[in-house]
Amino acid sequence: MSSPPAGDVQRLLETMQVGVPEGRVPARIFNDQAVYERERERVFGRVWCFLAHESEVPKPGDYVTRYIADNNVIVARTERGDLKASLNMCRHRGNMMCKSEMGNSSHFRCSYHGWVYKNSGELIGVPYFKEGYESKLDRKQWGLVPVRTETYAGLVFGTLDPDAEPLEEYLGGFQFYLDIYLKQGPGGSVVHGPPDHWVAETDWKICVENFSGDGYHTPVAHQFGFHLGYFPSSGATHSQGWAAHIPGKGHGIGLGHTPGMPPFAGYPPELVAQMGETLSPAQMEVFSKTRTAVGSVFPNLSFLIQPFSLVPGEPGVRFCTMRLYHPTGPGRMEMWSWCLVPAAASDEYKEAAYKAYTLAFGQAGMFEQDDFENWTRLTRVAGSSVAKHLEFPYVMGIEREPLSDFPGPGHVVSPYVTDTNFRGLWGTYTDYMLKES
Ligand code: FES
Ligand SMILES: [Fe+2]
Repeated sequence: MSSPPAGDVQRLLETMQVGVPEGRVPARIFNDQAVYERERERVFGRVWCFLAHESEVPKPGDYVTRYIADNNVIVARTERGDLKASLNMCRHRGNMMCKSEMGNSSHFRCSYHGWVYKNSGELIGVPYFKEGYESKLDRKQWGLVPVRTETYAGLVFGTLDPDAEPLEEYLGGFQFYLDIYLKQGPGGSVVHGPPDHWVAETDWKICVENFSGDGYHTPVAHQFGFHLGYFPSSGATHSQGWAAHIPGKGHGIGLGHTPGMPPFAGYPPELVAQMGETLSPAQMEVFSKTRTAVGSVFPNLSFLIQPFSLVPGEPGVRFCTMRLYHPTGPGRMEMWSWCLVPAAASDEYKEAAYKAYTLAFGQAGMFEQDDFENWTRLTRVAGSSVAKHLEFPYVMGIEREPLSDFPGPGHVVSPYVTDTNFRGLWGTYTDYMLKES
């Protein structure tokens, strides 16, 4: 694929910076080599990127391997019980050492010349240390490259930027909404089952936009779900609810509300009572009115709570999914998908929630199929010769004033169907892409 000159991308982004507040976004950002390359440096080189949930690595020695942009990262629980993240790159000649995506090991041994590292990153074994290096190699200098991490409510984030603001500031108040997914009772929420992941010819950003509160697509793209009875139709009132985003941070959430539908997205009363122990009254007030909560942490981590029936027509169970859109090239990504359950729920409930999640999301999920069919075509078209010079309208709700009496933080508007969160998302994205250092 040929790359447009860098100045061309600069102009595109400068035009976008003016266009976004006026409700215009260029198609080209959804499939372009030069845009992708700049994202790798200026977005993924600076942000806090989700790496793992603590419940994925509960015991000393447990590890998973994940990505920040094209950098493979080992997240390991050390023998002392703390979490350490390191680049999965042997310091001798750069071999990728750990080839499994998850496992348990106190050490990693490189398969090329045999250097050995503790899972905390220290280099402790060098073949022919005396004979070859004459004991002069300073092993302390050649440990694995550490990745800076911080944790919020079980989520482990990493950043490649030593000067990145603390995670708490980065989240900027979005914790209020994240807690609805992550603090579902004593012990919080935990991952149930391993993540599912697959490759898609899709730009990561359209997924983030969708999961920042695109309630607009649901009655159309997922209409089978209403017709087959997998979830109750929100009908003529579907647009009701709220869209909240944190200005300048890029995080956004859509909270769909349907009058007459069960409160708390239909979670059973015993689980709601447990949530009341960990969520504040204001959070409970917001969650009580929620049918669907679909939100994203900038740049590429999303969550969704959704009612879904295992048997069409029956009330069924509610599930929560966590998702990561890992870019692997222009218009290409690896999609990662997890099921989150309340730690305090019964095993029976967790299994039922997992079933509902796999019916709806993950690579065989029905909702997932609907979404990716649209996202893949959209990505392909965005890279075509005419489309890439066009813009899309992001004007929905552009004159709407934010609410002053909503219990949650951020810029909040009603109804839920609006482009307001997306203008916030694209504004932040453009700021990152234009900022030089
Ligand atoms: S590349 Fe790892 S020991 Fe040589
Ligand atoms: Fe969808």
